[in-house]
Amino acid sequence: MSDESPEVLISQAEIERRVGELAAQISSDYADKGEIVLIGVLKGAFILLADLSRRLTVPRSIEFIAVSSYEDGNVPSGAVRLVMDVRGSIEGKHVLIVEDIVDTGHTLHYLIEMLKSRGPASIKTCVMLHKEHSTEVDVDIDYLGFNIGDEWVVGYGLDYAEQDRTLPYIGIVKP
Ligand code: PRP
Repeated sequence: MSDESPEVLISQAEIERRVGELAAQISSDYADKGEIVLIGVLKGAFILLADLSRRLTVPRSIEFIAVSSYEDGNVPSGAVRLVMDVRGSIEGKHVLIVEDIVDTGHTLHYLIEMLKSRGPASIKTCVMLHKEHSTEVDVDIDYLGFNIGDEWVVGYGLDYAEQDRTLPYIGIVKP
């Protein structure tokens, strides 16, 4: 990768504004529902989960889950494997999956189906970025930050070879 900083796609100010809007919407939608269990999908969602969870005004608890994509050569096969599970039971609870990005949709589809089988009261999804033209599996995104094109993005939790996750903005990696 070059030494140049990635070109800004979504600025820190735009991210902060949008996360504030999402938190307000979620707080309003869950106002009379009791506690939400926020499940952050490692690693990419750690920053969104931290920012979003602190701006909610409804009771919430935090869980993390980690998955990995099976690859066929270097090409993702679409199959997803659970690497780390949540600690607590989600039976009867309101679950909000928090993801940094939906690309093909396979990861979020797998997680929704897997968590649904555990009998939660509800499952919704909050996703920062959606590559809408890359999506192969339809998934319901209930709370979306931004639609983006097919560029490789970094920052705000997203990496390129584990670099640039902590950039405060979302940038485009130059080839
Ligand atoms: C990224 C991202 C999503 C998934 C989306 O994770 O965080 O979990 O890919 O892709 P999909 O819609 O095509 O399934 P990645 O495997 O890069 O792991 P990371 O979050 O640890 O960086």
